[in-house]
Amino acid sequence: MLIDAAARLEPEALRCPFPAYAELRERGVTFVEAANAWLVTRAEDVDAVLRDPETFSSRNAIGAPPIPPQSELARHVPFLLLSDEPEHAQRRKLVQRAFTPSRLARFEPRIRELCTALVDDVRGQTEVDAMAALAVPLPIAVITTVLGVPDEETASFRSLSEELAATVGNHSADPGEIVRIAKEFAALLAPSLEAAAAAGEDEDTILHTIAAAERTAGLPRHDSTRFVMELLIAGNITTTDHLGNSILLLARDPGLADRLRADPSRLSFFIEESLRLESPIQGLFRLTTRDTEVGGVAIPAGARVQVMYGSGNRDAALVERPDELDLARHRPSAHLAFGRGVHSCLGNILARLESRVALETLLGSIPRFELAVEPDQIDYLPSFVNRGPQELPLRLTW
Ligand code: HEM
Repeated sequence: MLIDAAARLEPEALRCPFPAYAELRERGVTFVEAANAWLVTRAEDVDAVLRDPETFSSRNAIGAPPIPPQSELARHVPFLLLSDEPEHAQRRKLVQRAFTPSRLARFEPRIRELCTALVDDVRGQTEVDAMAALAVPLPIAVITTVLGVPDEETASFRSLSEELAATVGNHSADPGEIVRIAKEFAALLAPSLEAAAAAGEDEDTILHTIAAAERTAGLPRHDSTRFVMELLIAGNITTTDHLGNSILLLARDPGLADRLRADPSRLSFFIEESLRLESPIQGLFRLTTRDTEVGGVAIPAGARVQVMYGSGNRDAALVERPDELDLARHRPSAHLAFGRGVHSCLGNILARLESRVALETLLGSIPRFELAVEPDQIDYLPSFVNRGPQELPLRLTW
């Protein structure tokens, strides 16, 4: 099967896993040995799994085996992503209001300043790696801004979040190491959380909302801390990959970039198409809580299921001409890149805002940019979960 090479992380197959997904959609739900999971690839089946959290538990959502609830490690794992109902809904309610469009819109001017400063840093250069120059540094700077931690701590948060991210989905990650990073993280965050708690009713930043949840709903401090860690992980690599994938699409097609410069109202359509075609998270995991069936295929209780958003997004049953980038789709955001159902992405409004401002800045500041290497020289992350270029060499014309 074509998919085996991608699941074994062979670079060629990761560069373009889409024919393998097409083969799997033909077959329907299939157990893939190399992925050690039942792969769900049709849009309809992806939707069905995500909308049935009772049968498909999120306890293994990032791929690692479920963590025993009483263990020390359980106090440090993601607060929302790995929790099941009804606890998950109660938790999400406590923090949801920090992620609404009106709360996040206030950060737009600062996000624009951050993007402009990064583009100014490479002004006049004729060749740059767009990952190192923009896609990697921007998301962490944005998250620390919306959280409300001091700018001078961004670098420390970045290195801790990189250390933590390296443990995600890694079966051999040492639990003791994760606990050590989490404790270091808690110590770094404590002064900012204290400051937010002292600010009282004021609710400008995410930390203020979390401090309010501690005060009014008794949210324990270790839960606040792990929620912030979750945001740093969930919002960081994903947005980096999305920016990298989007810049790559534009660099491969300067005519498309010119169309967006001429008609900026199409930029939001482009962002949705980029998310759909090049989903930064290709697939996360679920654990079956009982014997069940998906798309007519029986799956036993206790099975590991990988839900392939990236394949569902290229299913002709979801959109017409699914492999084409179309700036005039009727329902451009009706894709699966942010998941569906109760666990759908909490940070999607922030991700879309950040992406729009970054791409507006890039298209507005650099008259022309194109790939400085052949497309088949772009290597993707060695991952069957995250999709994004490792490096993105561009030739710039000022
Ligand atoms: C383009 C960027 C992003 C993509 C593609 C993305 C994708 C996703 C997906 C697919 C899920 C669903 C997980 C599941 O089904 O189990 C999710 C959940 C989540 N995302 Fe995002 N995400 C992005 C950016 C962000 C940002 C910027 C933040 C926050 C700052 C964030 C925070 C979260 C959180 C907290 C969850 C867990 C929600 C829950 O379990 O209730 N994400 N994301």
